[in-house]
Amino acid sequence: MIFSRKYAFITLACLSLAVIPVVRSATIDVVVGGPGVLKYDPEFVNASVGDVIRFTFKQKNHTVTQSTLESPCSPMRSGFDSGFVPVADSTTSGFQQAQLTIEDTNPIWIYCRQGNHCQQGMVFAVNPGDKFEAFKAAAAGNSTTTATGSATSGAVTVTATVTVSNGQTITTTYGSFPGSSAPTAATTRDHRVVVGGTGGKLTYEPANITAQAGDTVTFEFRQKNHTVTQSSFEQPCQALSAGGQAGFDSGFMAVADSATNFPTYTIQVNDTKPIWAYCRQGTHCASGMVFSINAVESGPNGFEAFKAKATGGASGGSSGNDNNAAFSTRLNGAGIIVAVVGVVLGSLMC
Ligand SMILES: *[C@@H]1O[C@H](CO)[C@@H](O)[C@H](O)[C@H]1NC(C)=O
Ligand SMILES: *[C@@H]1O[C@H](CO)[C@@H](O)[C@H](O)[C@H]1NC(C)=O
Ligand SMILES: *[C@@H]1O[C@H](CO)[C@@H](O)[C@H](O)[C@H]1NC(C)=O
Ligand SMILES: *[C@@H]1O[C@H](CO)[C@@H](O)[C@H](O)[C@H]1NC(C)=O
Ligand SMILES: *[C@@H]1O[C@H](CO)[C@@H](O)[C@H](O)[C@H]1NC(C)=O
Ligand SMILES: *[C@@H]1O[C@H](CO)[C@@H](O)[C@H](O)[C@H]1NC(C)=O
Repeated sequence: MIFSRKYAFITLACLSLAVIPVVRSATIDVVVGGPGVLKYDPEFVNASVGDVIRFTFKQKNHTVTQSTLESPCSPMRSGFDSGFVPVADSTTSGFQQAQLTIEDTNPIWIYCRQGNHCQQGMVFAVNPGDKFEAFKAAAAGNSTTTATGSATSGAVTVTATVTVSNGQTITTTYGSFPGSSAPTAATTRDHRVVVGGTGGKLTYEPANITAQAGDTVTFEFRQKNHTVTQSSFEQPCQALSAGGQAGFDSGFMAVADSATNFPTYTIQVNDTKPIWAYCRQGTHCASGMVFSINAVESGPNGFEAFKAKATGGASGGSSGNDNNAAFSTRLNGAGIIVAVVGVVLGSLMC
């Protein structure tokens, strides 16, 4: 199964036929997990540009998720992520695989998002130089600390409770250095988005934004009668709430042509998972009146792909066929991100 031709993170359905026709570059195999094994084997590799790292997911339920040296057990913003790949104990063949094509020789840091696997040392690196042990030690929690900090050297992962502007608190994990202060409310902000307007504008301006956990987004409803309603990447023009999931909805905001005061609706961003939204009025969504927060432009599920889905235009994204759509759904359900890490690998169908 090809996740997306354009992207190098590819899941293959069957191991036996997974012969990779890559010319003049090495394929480096890495085994993920296995019975009673919480590690990537090998734990790190040196790779050249064009090499392909091929992860084979063995027993239990692991991920291959990009992180950073500073924060080994947290997903890197816009980093790649395989999603969870559960493998039954009884499985003996047909292990799923994922591939990563190396584009440059900068270090790439990786961990397993499952439970406390990362803290137990389930980390991996490509071209770590002499920093692999430091990375693993930071993952293992020897330099993990609460916001009070610790005197260990190197970067730390900090879990802190942060008070944001409206008095609410959120818990956040961030990479930091020992002794540095926790993020404060000063780092969160309100993003203003103008909805509609005179002349029959069917727009959110801006239509796509990036926001930090703790930020708020205030929609200012201008002329006509619009909503901002949370949906999903898969179904841009259907309210999340219609599928029984929690999702925000401003309700219809009718604004007279002569109005000079505009109603607003504010949502809070609680994490950096992509948030998708649309206008429920008539055919506005199909006309492209859609909005996103933290869409991952480097992956198949960018804002443009979302909008194309809404308008029924040329399909972007990862919804090429049913299999891919299913995989994509699972990826989104897990709130994760697949990034472009490489070049076209061509057809790798089993
Ligand atoms: C795999 O792990 C994830 C995260 O813990 C969990 O949501 C999912 O249900 C697990 N899958 C299986 C088949 O156990
Ligand atoms: C990988 O490269 C580093 C230097 O960047 C070197 O110290 C190390 O021995 C190499 N490891 C392997 C397994 O070749
Ligand atoms: C963490 O620290 C303990 C005690 O100092 C040590 O035994 C252990 O090996 C360290 N773990 C790593 C991954 O460095
Ligand atoms: C996302 O928003 C920015 C800023 O408004 C805009 O320049 C860009 O064109 C938008 N991207 C897409 C795909 O519409
Ligand atoms: C706004 O649109 C909704 C849905 O079409 C409609 O029910 C409502 O009456 C409209 N409000 C006004 C004031 O036009
Ligand atoms: C963020 O969390 C608050 C409080 O739990 C919730 O009301 C709100 O809907 C969440 N925001 C989003 C976009 O899910």
